[in-house]
Amino acid sequence: MHIAVVPGSFDPVTNGHLDIIKRTSALFDVVYVSILSNGAKNPLFSVEERVDLIKRVTKDLPNVKVEAFTGLLVNYAREKNAKFIVKGLRAVSDFEYEFQMSLTNKQLAPDIETFFITTNTKYSYLSSSIVKEVAKFDGDLSEMLPKEIIIDVQRKIGGKS
Ligand code: PNS
Repeated sequence: MHIAVVPGSFDPVTNGHLDIIKRTSALFDVVYVSILSNGAKNPLFSVEERVDLIKRVTKDLPNVKVEAFTGLLVNYAREKNAKFIVKGLRAVSDFEYEFQMSLTNKQLAPDIETFFITTNTKYSYLSSSIVKEVAKFDGDLSEMLPKEIIIDVQRKIGGKS
């Protein structure tokens, strides 16, 4: 059984994340989409809310499970029996940080491999921060977010400003 973890902050999950999650779910038997608890200092959505948002947008992917995790990613992956970490790569600017993280994880857990999936070009500009910026000024989010969660992001941003 091949088990993978797709880790991240997902604040909020974007169409770019969802594309990576779908493509990963087609390659592995079980995929844990795993949200780091206590990651960002001032997140827009709580970890519980982010778990709920991702569960809603992945409800048609039966081998995808959504959870929060704390501590080191490799320890969490071992708990789940996952031998693979999958991350999306958008541009060269992502590479340095992702490379460093994957080497650190390899140092800590030589038995776990990191796989990178290249973004769909359609989403290469996209990030959770960009989505929050566009939402703040009431821009069109229809190409950026899964349709089920657009209203949640608009409400949350509206409530904060
Ligand atoms: O969405 P992000 O911000 O790219 O996600 C980063 C994340 C959560 C994958 C990364 O920060 C992480 O794995 N944190 C857990 C702590 C850890 O294991 N650190 C060692 C690797 S540098």
